[in-house]
Amino acid sequence: MTSGSTPSAERSAAGPAAARSVTVRVPAKVNVQLAVGPPRPDGFHDLANVFLAVGLYDEVTATEADDLRVTVSGRDAAAVPTDTTNLAARAAQLLAARHGRRPNVHLHIAKDIPVAGGMAGGSADGAGALLACDELWGTGSGTEELLGVCAELGSDVPFSLVGGAALGRGRGERLTALSAKGPLHWVFAVADGGLSTPAVYREFDRLAADRSVPEPDPSPAVLDALGSGDPATLAAALAAIAGGNDLQPAALSLRPPLADTLGAGTAAGALAALVSGSGPTCAFLAADEAAAAEIAAALESSGTCRQARVAQAPAPGAEVVR
Ligand code: C5P
Repeated sequence: MTSGSTPSAERSAAGPAAARSVTVRVPAKVNVQLAVGPPRPDGFHDLANVFLAVGLYDEVTATEADDLRVTVSGRDAAAVPTDTTNLAARAAQLLAARHGRRPNVHLHIAKDIPVAGGMAGGSADGAGALLACDELWGTGSGTEELLGVCAELGSDVPFSLVGGAALGRGRGERLTALSAKGPLHWVFAVADGGLSTPAVYREFDRLAADRSVPEPDPSPAVLDALGSGDPATLAAALAAIAGGNDLQPAALSLRPPLADTLGAGTAAGALAALVSGSGPTCAFLAADEAAAAEIAAALESSGTCRQARVAQAPAPGAEVVR
């Protein structure tokens, strides 16, 4: 498998007989609340995961090809695997196997979601590839079938497909849609280098070793605040549960300088500051669009992150764009 070439370049080189292709756009997510229970016998953790899709997107293009290959473009392309550990490739393999066909497809990922950043970028590519292949191959899977394949791919993949806002139970794959009013204005501080999700969960277990971890539950105040669309109300509900992300102490333990990033965003006027999922991306809730721009500018000049991105929520789930 190769990295870097674009399907559009190949199409024009191939002339009028160019292969058919389908492009799907998929959003990133932030976990507004992430309540984590004790480890299960299978090693996963039961969650109460309040997912919110945000308007940073990857695009996955599936093009007819003679074999399965993955290419990636974008600033962090070099950090994305192009073998079958890439969830996009696995999505094509799983869908093809279910329909008794070969997974012959070129998947090109135009990457804009931070890599290994706690924003479900890999999951987004899995969901996007699945929808793109289903459309390209005419396999006509219903939503239930697609969600089942997503759950096989990973805990966060079903949410990447549906977007909006949802409560994820089980390991995060059992979804109930939530009402979320927008736009909510968020700023994301992208760190240098990623954090491994399994490593963060292991650190959570290590930090929790001498206490009993309760079963995870969503905060009713957080769910109400999401429905209200009022950022100050949401920030107050998050403050009442000490920020809401049970993985945050583990991410901070593995990456102590993230505390400075959180502090810089708070000093710049963020209503709430939290590590996104397993990190290391930090998420800041802003009062409005102007405040978001100010927080992003302050974060960029603080030297505590590589880049700051603004995005609105809720964002739609995976959708075919061309
Ligand atoms: O489901 P996914 O493959 O994305 O999970 C990656 C890793 O994160 C798992 O192997 C596990 O270590 C950890 N995890 C967990 N509990 C969850 C979700 C993920 O322990 N609910």
